[in-house]
Amino acid sequence: KKILFVSSEAHPLIKTGGLADVSGSLPKALAELSQDVRLILPNYQGIKSDKEVRFLCSLRVDNRDVNLLETQLPDSEITVWLVDYPEFYHRPGNPYLDGLGNSWPDNADRFALFCRIAVEVAMNRANLDWQPDIVHCNDWQSGLVPALLSLEVDSPASVFTIHNLAYQGLFPAESIQGLSLPGQLWHPEGLEFYHMLSFIKGGLVYADHITTVSPTYALEIQTSAYGCGLEGLLLHRKDVLRGILNGIDLEVWSPETDPLIPQHYRIASLADKQYNKSEIQRKFALPVNDHVPLFGLIGRLVEQKGIDLIIDCLPDMLSMPMQLVLLGSGDKVYEQRLQNLAHVYPDKMAITLGYDEPLAHLIEAGSDVFLMPSRFEPCGLNQMYSQRYGTLPIVRKTGGLADTVVDTLPETIADRTATGFVFNEASASSLLEAIKRAMILYSDKKAWATIQTNAMKKDFSWRHSAEQYLMLYRNL
Ligand code: ADP
Ligand code: GLC
Repeated sequence: KKILFVSSEAHPLIKTGGLADVSGSLPKALAELSQDVRLILPNYQGIKSDKEVRFLCSLRVDNRDVNLLETQLPDSEITVWLVDYPEFYHRPGNPYLDGLGNSWPDNADRFALFCRIAVEVAMNRANLDWQPDIVHCNDWQSGLVPALLSLEVDSPASVFTIHNLAYQGLFPAESIQGLSLPGQLWHPEGLEFYHMLSFIKGGLVYADHITTVSPTYALEIQTSAYGCGLEGLLLHRKDVLRGILNGIDLEVWSPETDPLIPQHYRIASLADKQYNKSEIQRKFALPVNDHVPLFGLIGRLVEQKGIDLIIDCLPDMLSMPMQLVLLGSGDKVYEQRLQNLAHVYPDKMAITLGYDEPLAHLIEAGSDVFLMPSRFEPCGLNQMYSQRYGTLPIVRKTGGLADTVVDTLPETIADRTATGFVFNEASASSLLEAIKRAMILYSDKKAWATIQTNAMKKDFSWRHSAEQYLMLYRNL
């Protein structure tokens, strides 16, 4: 099959979160299954590529002259088409936010233009001599693509993947004229969402098939607790909605080969992991001590990730013999509170605010425990990376966390399936209780090593998931 993969970020070219990890690795996994996959992305200023970028053609849409450039995904043969329109994409900051963390005021225009160009390519109107069978869109930034394709004759089939339903791309109703979108898309069963223009509805209403990134999240979003107001629509489309768990890129995330960590290790040499731990302790000026468990957290510091739960139980946590390192950025209130706490407990807790890939790898490799108490989590990748690195995750039983981490209980210890610690309720006390269970198990070195081994043996590779996508494409 020929597949056009439409995404607003892809690792290692440009990344703000898990969407980039998926867009950078699923196409590779599909290519390994002999599929012809091409990726289309906006040409942001921040794109990092060591490969040649060449000019392909110019297209005129919406009275704008847009260039299409071609390059390849680093370390692969995957063709990447870059939508080049400097006025929209050549800016500092990240794909969605300016340097101060505010959304770019013209995001509707920026991503509508991206969608329009993707449609031109999908309809083979860009003189590329290539027409996809499937257009696979991801998250709201690509949501107008299925909507616009629905108005075309002989258009390719479309798949829309929800990576996070909480981000919907909502804009004032007037935008529909400003973006010169066809009027027939504007109604409550179309792009309208309570008198706002909703980009994500373009995918949810018009795509031939909807997927999301874990089976549990696929069910959760059909309920009011997780549906963000879209549960009715998703329930209505449940026959074409399914969850396919994300995989992880083992070329990027493997403790045996990871170039970003100081000491490689494997199951047979688990003791070497400790060198990475002392590296973290030195780096963060924490006491260098292998006997005290080191907890790590990496992620966007936002409500989704349960950061408030951590803040609430921090004083209790830190009264125990442990250390905590955090890496992330997001909500300024959380950033400030965590920074203050780190000042109060300088020999127990350290925080780096910002985005730092090498440090993320070091924390995965050097921590004993990884914290991920998310309120909701469509899939989550860090808990899978953690298991690969023998860093036992503490997660809340939701979405992809529920699907990928097996709680440590007498029976799961016995049948060697236990890989971490799972708690139910989104409360600081439930989280604390799971942390205490981890502390107790940590004091039993042999038991701990057994769970680490279970975790490291798990197969989180893309192959199985890529096969499920392929089956889906074939049935369309
Ligand atoms: P989400 O996409 O909701 O942010 P995921 O767990 O799916 O959560 O993926 C997050 C990805 O982004 C992981 O690869 C994680 O390591 C990375 N990441 C998040 N925050 C940072 C940060 N501050 N520095 C480096 N990497 C980060
Ligand atoms: C989103 C979700 C995260 C998921 C990622 C990749 O950002 O928040 O749970 O792992 O997309 O699908």
